[in-house]
Formats: sequence, structure tokens, C-alpha cells
Amino acid sequence: MPIKAQSNEESRVRNDSVEEIFIPEEPKWSLDEIILPEDVKNQILDVATYADNSHRVFELWGFKKTHKFSRRIGINLYGAPGTGKTMAAHAIAKNLGRKILIVNYADIESKFVGETPKNIRKAFEAAQKSNSILFFDEADAILSKRVTNMTQAVDVSVNQTRSVMLMLMNEFQDFIIFATNFIENFDPAFMRRISIHIKFTLPDEACRKKLWRMYTPPEVPNNLDFDELAKKFDGISGSDIANAMLNAAFKAARLKLDELDKNLVFEAVENILVSKRANAGNS
Ligand SMILES: Nc1ncnc2c1ncn2[C@@H]1O[C@H](COP(=O)(O)OP(=O)(O)O)[C@@H](O)[C@H]1O
Ligand SMILES: [Mg+2]
Repeated sequence: MPIKAQSNEESRVRNDSVEEIFIPEEPKWSLDEIILPEDVKNQILDVATYADNSHRVFELWGFKKTHKFSRRIGINLYGAPGTGKTMAAHAIAKNLGRKILIVNYADIESKFVGETPKNIRKAFEAAQKSNSILFFDEADAILSKRVTNMTQAVDVSVNQTRSVMLMLMNEFQDFIIFATNFIENFDPAFMRRISIHIKFTLPDEACRKKLWRMYTPPEVPNNLDFDELAKKFDGISGSDIANAMLNAAFKAARLKLDELDKNLVFEAVENILVSKRANAGNS
């Protein structure tokens, strides 16, 4: 990460682009579009119905006295890639009747020392101003363990970013959602400030069957057997299933077939599995 002095021109350009990044969106998914095991869905529902039940819990049941500073709800969605964590963050916001403000680390990371913490602050402010749900997607980069070997200005900057993040989280009295594929990298200081952790796993056979069905449009002529597909391929995510179906459909169309043949779907899954295995050797 190069460190260099920032000219006014660069500063102006960057600030403009940062502000453009923090635009709240309408949530793209709802809970009924996500296939998850019952227990995971229930955990999400507990959070997603928070707004409906907050009066009862805090006022009628007196929790406002025992849990004075617990209006900040940190929610961490963690687990394997492609299992629906980003979708779930949208669905939670949707259920709460709020927009979602998505922050990706790449958006706020700056090559200028001291800019990244500023950008984080802006994200919090933007969420508050627009009353939207703050969502740090792929949050491991920002919540990872502190660098202890501070030999470079860059490391100091990384630790500054952590400190600012911790401070802002302490002050914030609203939902913050995080999603990560690497919870093992989270700093314990952040873990303590996040009260709800929901684990996402690869779909079991029953969920895979639902996913195969869900990602097969009713219009497409096919000879697929969802039971067979669910049994045949284990260790694949919802995202893999969605991708395999679309890849197979395009191949069938290119071959001018009358129907989506199951062998093309098998082949598409195999291709994905091969790339996953190759990538696993990398981690
Ligand atoms: N549980 C699921 N139910 C339905 N679709 C899913 C599920 N998991 C993944 N998908 C599909 O894969 C895509 C990527 O999922 P995403 O939520 O981004 O995964 P993650 O954030 O866990 O990496 C989704 O847009 C959707 O098409
Ligand atoms: Mg994601």
C-alpha cells in the first residue's frame, strides 16, 4: 500500500466518490427467497422481527432498565461462501422496513493514511442520517485481529481503523449487520460487541432439493430430477446451484436443445467443483 501526500485535487475526487458510495438501497431480497434450515431461519426471524417486538420487550417487560445501552444490535452472519449471508442481510433490513447501506471494505479502504477511518465514520453518519441498516459485507478485512508488529505507518493506520471502528460501534444505537466467510480472523474486541452470531452452513440434502427447484424456472423444458440432483452433489452452496443451472441453460441454448438436459447440469456442477477444489489448495 503506497503512502503519499494527498493533493487537494485528489482529496476532492476521493471525497466525492466516497459520498457516492454510501447510498442506501432498497433491500433486494426477502426472507421467503432464502432457502435455509429451520433453525437458522428462526434465528434470522428473531432479529428481523425486532422492530415489531421492541416495545413489548423494552417497555412492557421493563428491559429498558436492565439493558439500558442494548439498543445497539450487532449481528454477525458467518460461514461458508455462497450460502446466503448477503441475501439474509437484505432480508433483515426488508423485514425491519428499512433501507440498507452496504459498506464493502474495498469502498472505504484508502491508499492515503488516515482516510480509511474517516470513510468509516462517513458510513456510520450516512446510515444514521438516512435511517438505514448499516451492513458491513465481507467484514473480516475490517474486523480482523489488530496488527501487533507495528513497524510501518501502514500498520499504524490499520490499527487506527480498528480503534475508530470500535469507538463508532460503541456509540451507535442501532442495528449493524456484518457478514464474513472468515470469523476466525475476527478480533475478540469486536466479537464482544456483537451480540448475535448466526452460522450459515452449506445446504443439506433437503435444502439442496429446494434450491435446485427454486433455481429451475417453471418455463424451462427439462428432464431434471431434483431428488437425484440433491443426492448426487454434496458440498455445494446455494450460489453454486444457482450458477450451475444458468451455465447449463446457456449451454443447452447454444446447442439448440429442446430441453435442459440433466447431463448438462451435472457437467456444470462438476466444473464448479473442480474449480473449488483447485482454489482450496490455495488457502
Ligand atoms: N440460502 C440460499 N437460498 C437461496 N439462494 C441462495 C442461497 N445461498 C446462496 N444463494 C444464491 O447465491 C447467490 C449468492 O449468495 P450470497 O448471499 O451472496 O452468499 P454469501 O453472502 O453467503 O457469500 C445469491 O444471490 C443466490 O442467488
Ligand atoms: Mg456475501
